[in-house]
Amino acid sequence: MEIITEFLAGIVGDAFEKCGYDRSMGRVTMSDRLDLCQFQCNGAFEGAKRYKKAPFIIADEVVAAMDKSLFSKAEAVRPGFINLTLSDGELLKFACDAAGEVPAVNAGETIVIDYGGPNVAKPLHIGHLRSAVIGESIKRILKACGARVIGDIHLGDWGLQIGLIISELKHRHPDWRCFAPDFDEGSDTFPDITIEDLSEIYPFASKKSKEDDGFKREALKATADLQKGQAGYMAVWKKIMAVSVPDLKQIYNRLNVSFDCWYGESDAEKYVDKLMEALRGKNLVRESDGALVVDVAKDDDTAEIPPVIVKKSDGSNIYATTDLATIIQRQCDFSPNKILYITDSRQSLHFEQVFRCARLAQLIPDDTALEFLGFGTVNGPDGKPFKTRDGGTMRLEELLNMASAAALEKLNESAHMSDEEDNEQKTDKAEKIGIAAIKFGDLINQKSKDYIFDMSKFLAFEGKTGPYILYTVTRINSILKKLNVPYDSNIKPSEIYSDIERELYLKMALSADTVIKAAADRAPNIICENLYQTAALFSRFYHDNRIIDEPNAAKRENWTALIITVRKVLMLYLNLLGIEAVDSM
Ligand code: ARG
Repeated sequence: MEIITEFLAGIVGDAFEKCGYDRSMGRVTMSDRLDLCQFQCNGAFEGAKRYKKAPFIIADEVVAAMDKSLFSKAEAVRPGFINLTLSDGELLKFACDAAGEVPAVNAGETIVIDYGGPNVAKPLHIGHLRSAVIGESIKRILKACGARVIGDIHLGDWGLQIGLIISELKHRHPDWRCFAPDFDEGSDTFPDITIEDLSEIYPFASKKSKEDDGFKREALKATADLQKGQAGYMAVWKKIMAVSVPDLKQIYNRLNVSFDCWYGESDAEKYVDKLMEALRGKNLVRESDGALVVDVAKDDDTAEIPPVIVKKSDGSNIYATTDLATIIQRQCDFSPNKILYITDSRQSLHFEQVFRCARLAQLIPDDTALEFLGFGTVNGPDGKPFKTRDGGTMRLEELLNMASAAALEKLNESAHMSDEEDNEQKTDKAEKIGIAAIKFGDLINQKSKDYIFDMSKFLAFEGKTGPYILYTVTRINSILKKLNVPYDSNIKPSEIYSDIERELYLKMALSADTVIKAAADRAPNIICENLYQTAALFSRFYHDNRIIDEPNAAKRENWTALIITVRKVLMLYLNLLGIEAVDSM
């Protein structure tokens, strides 16, 4: 498929070249003054500097030399803009071609996306929302652009929280075979651990370690022994994983978030020796208070970048160790061109240290990009990190339940809702609407910014919200059903009757540009913004026209083709955000 701005840049570029200028100045963008034109080229201003000529003279020459057959308007405007408007026939062709399609601009690239990052044995909380939601969307956008993308959850499954649980279990059940020095994995058994056990034990042990230094030391020792592979501890760890991972999966499922790999920090363990070898081979390691560290500061640093600790004095690995070893693992498994990390912005120093260390040790080729994509905090109405009413951390599951319940309440009040649906269908729909509200409410924000979590705003059926978008799709569905036209019918439009239709088609023609920009900027908010604009334009069109009752058959047919095309674009964008549509509302 053709990317419209590139196609037009080709035409304008030809004209620049014909006039003796560099063709790269023919770059075309969507116009920011749709009342004047659909597209614009500002290349004459660049040309003015390079060729020492007035920009308007260049623009005028270029327009005179240009192939104008596709345009209803192509003109040079003072002080030097080139304004372009396609003929309706061409616009329709581009819009129908582009709708729902994404050109494979990232084909041939392998990208690992590290997102989600939950810690096993600890419940997911609101802080885990953004990594999951943003990561899933960026993964989908890059996949749509043709890249081979591997989403890896990078479970926190190898740290102190496991040591804390093991130590606490040992206190409570010293008789369990797993704690005996002669534990035998093949023949010994001990009781299973449930998710309820975990949700009680972890907070208990975590609190205890803060009050009791002896217990903290035990937990640290247990963590180190686990990492060394002590059989009894490994057996407990496996039981913890066996209940914790399905529990995590269930919540990610609800969020419509899925991972290609469920690797954890523990999977990096087998690459730690290689890592230490690489670091030692390059003479990067030095001892500091019994720990092994790598200096990563540079002369021109403006802020202090402390050394990375790769081994603690008790021989255990820490966060940076597993991240570095995981880079080796990813290089072995996938030879990626890029690794993207999607975590809270507050981890930026950690990643700066890890990336510098990885470069010094040459764990990956120089041209493999390591990109940290930090996101802002989810705040409460007071502008401080979101808390439950009693000041605790909001569990993600609780938040999703809240959204789902609030959506159900709205559905029950809504006049549009048909009474024919049974409760199960309604609950299912409410869940989808609630999740759409949360996801859209998150993704519409520029990812680096903090935002205020406001359930009632996110759930509104009007404005820049998930439910509004879903509602727009259901309006189109309902018209198509009444007209007895399948959603994926391929009737083609041949005529445009109003400016609002023209603007809609322009948006659709530009949908490929939108996705490519979102991919390049790693910015799902660009998709959200365009999704909203397309839906809002459709709503205006819908408000002005009676499609079903339109007596002129040709007009009705053209409008039907229009809304099918709009639907394709809305559905593509929703899919790229990882938001599920509902059939009716
Ligand atoms: N588990 C970590 C946390 O809860 C996030 C992991 C992010 N990814 C990474 N490769 N470090 O903070």
